[in-house]
Amino acid sequence: MAPPHLRLRLLLLAAFAVLRALAHDGPDLDVWAADLSHAPDSASANSALPEHVGATAAARSGHSAAQVPHWYHTRDTIAGDDSARLRFTAEVQHDIWRHQNPPTCEGRRYLETPYHRFGLGSLLNRASGTLGFAMNQGLIMLYHEELGSPNFLGSYCAGVLNPSCIFMPPSNCTAYARDPRNKVKIHTGSDDHSYPMPVVPDKWVQRWAETDMSSSGMVNLQYWWRAQAAGYFSRLNARTSQEMIARRLRSAARGAAPLPLPPDTIAVHVRHGDKSTEMKLASWKKHHARVDRLARQRGLNEHFIYLSTDDPDVVHAAHAIRERNYRVFSLPCPALMDGAGVLPCRTNSTSANPGYDMEEDGTHADQIALFAVESLLLALEATHFVGQRGSSWARLIDELRMVVDKACRDGSSVDIDHHDQCQCPEDAEELVG
Ligand SMILES: *[C@@H]1O[C@H](CO)[C@@H](O)[C@H](O)[C@H]1NC(C)=O
Ligand SMILES: *[C@@H]1O[C@H](CO)[C@@H](O)[C@H](O)[C@H]1NC(C)=O
Repeated sequence: MAPPHLRLRLLLLAAFAVLRALAHDGPDLDVWAADLSHAPDSASANSALPEHVGATAAARSGHSAAQVPHWYHTRDTIAGDDSARLRFTAEVQHDIWRHQNPPTCEGRRYLETPYHRFGLGSLLNRASGTLGFAMNQGLIMLYHEELGSPNFLGSYCAGVLNPSCIFMPPSNCTAYARDPRNKVKIHTGSDDHSYPMPVVPDKWVQRWAETDMSSSGMVNLQYWWRAQAAGYFSRLNARTSQEMIARRLRSAARGAAPLPLPPDTIAVHVRHGDKSTEMKLASWKKHHARVDRLARQRGLNEHFIYLSTDDPDVVHAAHAIRERNYRVFSLPCPALMDGAGVLPCRTNSTSANPGYDMEEDGTHADQIALFAVESLLLALEATHFVGQRGSSWARLIDELRMVVDKACRDGSSVDIDHHDQCQCPEDAEELVG
């Protein structure tokens, strides 16, 4: 339990967060207003004290921000011990942090990622190679100012057209290096550092060569490094953290996803749409069958599924399951932040990454990115995971969950199609075709 002063702060934070959510979610106002009017202390709904209203709403959901898992909270470093995470997480996170956040920014050399327009999952995976290369060269890694810009169009990012709209910047020297008065020359990286295999810091290449990793379950250095770098990159910035905590309290209050998720929940990510041009997509039926197999192998009686997907038909199909002992949770598309309708968070379009919001000229791309991150953070709460690792997004879920708190426990390989796989078969199931 948090100490009293911290609890108060967290409560206020939750209250504020819920209030922000209320302010953003036009169509939801009715629902919440109805809720409040039935609350025992409904008089507070009319009170001018915003904290009070927000606190009431949070209390009605039975949850406070303190119950939202630690990865929703903004933080500088990924602290904690490695007993339930990928091996060496604490040490490598400390290495990255120290390298990227030096005591002084002056006189340092800087390397920015190359510019490209891939989707959010791909950005975070690819940046791992630039980081590895930069660490080997003694350079501080920065995002290109427009890295992945089509993902960040819209009013939330308001002109911040790189991942630091949502996440912490990779270095606390970013502002210094970008300030023209400091006349810093920033080198640009080449994509070759990231693809197909990321450059890994020499120290860790060495350490892996000297360490018997066979018992750790993670025997692939490149996948391990991508997971670590992605973990570092996806620390939420303060603003997004508040937004995500508010959303988590909301999804819990609505019953879209209980907080916490039931034990042994299986997260399923189904990537369809334009990904068909890059890999053979597995149908919902295939995912469903894999869920059943996993549940059988684990001896699970109840099938709790948390589903994330870009395909609206998959949402319908999953919620239409009539088998006994099945409960499917998924997030509905959120209301637009300006209250003018519902975010087109899933699409049938096969012409582009759904995250680019092409049908709306990208107007809400940033809100789709936020929704994707909301869905991702929730997937990390589940015990098991089923997805196709040919999708960068599915891979990101698999990587982050292991950095957050789910170590591999089993060393056998699940597939031979991709070289950069984690070998974590009991939790992360690879679907091929
Ligand atoms: C960056 O972080 C390091 C390590 O905590 C700190 O010593 C340094 O003062 C910070 N620099 C800036 C510009 O905030
Ligand atoms: C996608 O197509 C299905 C029919 O296959 C339709 O029911 C659904 O409304 C469509 N969704 C969108 C977002 O266009």
